[in-house]
Amino acid sequence: MDFKKLFGYEGKNVVITGSASGMSKAATELLLELGAKVYAIDINPINLPVTKAYQADLSDKDQIDRVLSEPDFPQKIDALFLCHGIAGFKGRELLVQKVNFYSQKYITEQLLPHISDHGSVTYIASVGGFGWQQIYPKAVELIRLKSWDEAMAWYQAHPKEIESSYVFAKQCLLSYVTYQCMSKDFIGRKIRINAINPGDTTTGLTDDFNKSTSPTGNAEEGAKMIENIFLKSWNGYAAEPKDMGYPMVVIGSDICSYMSGQLIYIDYGLTSSWTSMALLNANQKTIEELSHDANQES
Ligand SMILES: NC(=O)c1ccc[n+]([C@@H]2O[C@H](COP(=O)([O-])OP(=O)(O)OC[C@H]3O[C@@H](n4cnc5c(N)ncnc54)[C@H](O)[C@@H]3O)[C@@H](O)[C@H]2O)c1
Repeated sequence: MDFKKLFGYEGKNVVITGSASGMSKAATELLLELGAKVYAIDINPINLPVTKAYQADLSDKDQIDRVLSEPDFPQKIDALFLCHGIAGFKGRELLVQKVNFYSQKYITEQLLPHISDHGSVTYIASVGGFGWQQIYPKAVELIRLKSWDEAMAWYQAHPKEIESSYVFAKQCLLSYVTYQCMSKDFIGRKIRINAINPGDTTTGLTDDFNKSTSPTGNAEEGAKMIENIFLKSWNGYAAEPKDMGYPMVVIGSDICSYMSGQLIYIDYGLTSSWTSMALLNANQKTIEELSHDANQES
């Protein structure tokens, strides 16, 4: 079997963000290995032999517009990967929404007319977005707004929602995949849309995650807290960038040609165990309530 053919990236145009580091860098390396023509965008320099590297701050609409209208930017895109992201420090809630969600929605919708039928769009969300269902109606309110400026006004008017910063942005991203997968823009042209939800991974963001998790900004304390939340319960270990980047490349490829609307947790089962606990607690509560009712009746 010809494995490059199986993936289907050979000679295809792929646009990917965040390639200067971490998961996206690992994904970019594999895409190049598989013969894709890679157009990569990052705020930092990209040291990989991509077809074309663009440097831009993707929190800024004007910089996004500038890159997407560069004369050598591909007019036909077979796979789009949106991977750029930052940690959620207090005081930069709006910036986090722009980088981790709104720019990703904006770039997707700007590029949709250029994405081939049967193409794919894949995001990196996070286990931090677990429980996204609770904010879904609010996220859809935001998703339905038509312009960047309306969205910025929405954020200004909803300081409570964006207080959770990183979590809210990732929950919006997961809501977006769920909301869009059957929309005519995607299903009408058989464009697949999926997200991966990485667990704790050692990347360029690790230090910032550690600092932003600690209430006092202490990286060591934050690292301990992250270890307690994500690793201790299964005596686990942090993932490497390729543990996330490689599966993401598979999801965007022809191998997953029947997969869309999926929020794929790559966390060694951690969030499944959270789901199990939540369901058992809910059932337990129901049983207690039922027996309480039964006792009252008897
Ligand atoms: N590392 C983890 O434990 C973890 C867990 C869950 C989700 N994630 C998500 O994974 C994605 C990839 O991050 P990573 O962990 O590989 O970190 P990373 O820092 O190694 O990579 C992120 C990349 O995004 C780029 N970037 C940041 N802000 C940008 C901007 N304004 N414009 C353009 N590019 C920008 C950075 O320069 C960097 O190259 C992020 O969306 C992150 O939220 C990470």
